[in-house]
Amino acid sequence: MSSYLITGIAGFIGSTLARGVLAHGNQVRGIDNLSTGKRENIAEIRDRIDLREVDLLDLKSVQEACRDMDYVFHEAAIPSVPRSVVDPLESNRANIDATANLLVAARDAKVKRVVYAASSSAYGDTPTLPKREDMLPSPISPYAVAKLTGEYYMTSFWRCYGLETVSLRYFNIFGPRQDPASPYSGVLAKFITQMLKGQQPVIFGDGRQSRDFTHVENVVNANLLACQAPASEAAGRTFNVATAMRIDLNETFRVLKKLTGYTGEVKYEAERAGDVKHSLADLTLARKHLGYAPTVGFEEGLQRTVEWYRGQA
Ligand code: UD1
Repeated sequence: MSSYLITGIAGFIGSTLARGVLAHGNQVRGIDNLSTGKRENIAEIRDRIDLREVDLLDLKSVQEACRDMDYVFHEAAIPSVPRSVVDPLESNRANIDATANLLVAARDAKVKRVVYAASSSAYGDTPTLPKREDMLPSPISPYAVAKLTGEYYMTSFWRCYGLETVSLRYFNIFGPRQDPASPYSGVLAKFITQMLKGQQPVIFGDGRQSRDFTHVENVVNANLLACQAPASEAAGRTFNVATAMRIDLNETFRVLKKLTGYTGEVKYEAERAGDVKHSLADLTLARKHLGYAPTVGFEEGLQRTVEWYRGQA
């Protein structure tokens, strides 16, 4: 049995990871400042985890949280491109300062490995597809800059202090418990809940922007693999975590019409500042060094997710 600290445990991805880690018979400690996370995401596992309601900017509390932990999954973030465009300093604090604090605490507590939720937004709008990890990053939004800075910090702590770190560049993760209610919510969570209620979804731009949408179960697998891989394969490195297919928003809307039974049309509004046009991952490195392969494809993941939101309604 190993012990895992999950930052952002009350969030969509953190709470899903917690379930995956518990299912393998491990111990979970979680921290969350409940800024975007929700207690209800962890309600049914609450008595099986050591939950600490603290902010990563509070170094002393983070140091206490890292004590006796084998692994850290760093999911805490303000994960929104448009929110970072509105408030870049908030993004800087929550995504960069918080990450630096966590790394110092993890280093001092001698944890075995930190696995970090990096972002495919680091690639930016470069024309080459699919995106490979050896491409020069070209972040557009303050959020993308912050997430990429976190990666550099991960590698730096491996190189300077020997703290084993692995960065996983997530590509548009979706699935149960993703918050649909904020203006900054992920597009699939928003569209599914709107369409199930018969409300008209809005596409920002012409709908031809495409994403490599990835079901959250693939993220759980990738994180567990990132802990198991030998340091010679994984430490200090960055890997894409995705499905390796892309679909544009117009087509996504058509697929969702079938799954939700929505009969209306979509509304088009102005393109969003900071948006990336296309996104698609190359998974060669993740396959080779982590043994990662997506186990839940886009359509199956979407079906499961629609069913979950339907059950919540
Ligand atoms: C998403 C993640 C980000 C992650 C990145 C990795 C969220 C909220 N953001 O950013 O954390 O690091 O992927 O690739 O999960 N859109 C609409 N209508 C809407 C909402 C969005 O048309 O109501 C469009 C956006 O303009 C964008 C696309 O859908 O073109 C995807 O947007 P969004 O789901 O916010 O994700 P990303 O910005 O790609």
